[in-house]
Amino acid sequence: MAITISAIAHGKINLHLGVSDVRDDGYHDLETVFQSVALQETVHLTEVASEKGATVTVEGHDAHLVPTDETNLAVRAVAAVQQRVAQQMGADFQVPPVAIHIDKGVPVAGGMAGGSADAAAALVAAVEFYCSRHHETRDHVVLSWDEEYRIAASLGADVPFCLLGGTALGTGRGDELVSVMARGPYHWAIATDKRGLSTPKVFAQLDKQRESGRSHSHAGSTDELIRVLHSGDPEQLAPLLVNDLQAPAISLLPSLRETLAAAKEADALASIVSGSGPTIAMLCRDAEHALEVATAVSVSGKASATMTTTTPAGHARLADAAVIRESGLTE
Ligand code: C5P
Repeated sequence: MAITISAIAHGKINLHLGVSDVRDDGYHDLETVFQSVALQETVHLTEVASEKGATVTVEGHDAHLVPTDETNLAVRAVAAVQQRVAQQMGADFQVPPVAIHIDKGVPVAGGMAGGSADAAAALVAAVEFYCSRHHETRDHVVLSWDEEYRIAASLGADVPFCLLGGTALGTGRGDELVSVMARGPYHWAIATDKRGLSTPKVFAQLDKQRESGRSHSHAGSTDELIRVLHSGDPEQLAPLLVNDLQAPAISLLPSLRETLAAAKEADALASIVSGSGPTIAMLCRDAEHALEVATAVSVSGKASATMTTTTPAGHARLADAAVIRESGLTE
């Protein structure tokens, strides 16, 4: 039986997302505080016979919306590790392909880093697959944490945070990270919108709004938020949630206003567009309150789906059972 290696990584919410002007490379400098959410992606890599080539399959929440070609971030993460293996092993070595299976738990194209979590989980699984005792490359290919981080950053600005998890302050593109102490858990209701939003378009809309003077929003300092995160008190956290991408996301998808109004009506402590949206994160007092808010917003008909979750969650890692199967044995 073929070997399968599985890893998980979590999605994220930006509690504070401050966006500066656009840089020469098209990115924007950020000052952001990320928290990983309990919602997670699981990526399974299975050894396949070389002649079959690689395949990607996806199941779970809105799986049909996920691309299964070479633009898929898990595919790109595995390809980056394979390239490193090829460099190390020499031209004659044929890098064994893997089949990739993604089990989705994070809303697709929702501003919660579902794709970036796929990349982080695929990276962890691929490093284990190609650079560990399971493979003939084990004595030859060693990937340091720095290299793993560099690959992560090359795949997308949120991928390093999905590797790290927890609570972190992100600067630069959002990929220069410092862990932040936080007492949790915080409880959230989540409202998704299946229409999705394109991250580059939301950033571009912010630039347009600022150029035309229609937006002067600047999220400001993260100091108070970081202080309050020590308290574990959602009532203190609520007034500090801020996102510079909220106004441009709403201008691209005006019905988000109604979802935010439904969250208020449902008595959420605070609600905010998550990252570039259109998912809305609603901060709640406790698990029971999160369930009530999610139910009320669902009944209002102003969301495609609702769910509950908690923050902060952990780093990307091999799945608990490691799901390393060979010859029918689970190690
Ligand atoms: O890095 P990633 O591919 O996730 O970014 C998607 C897009 O989001 C970028 O191409 C860019 O348009 C925008 N972005 C940005 N500034 C950031 C992060 C993302 O402008 N710090």
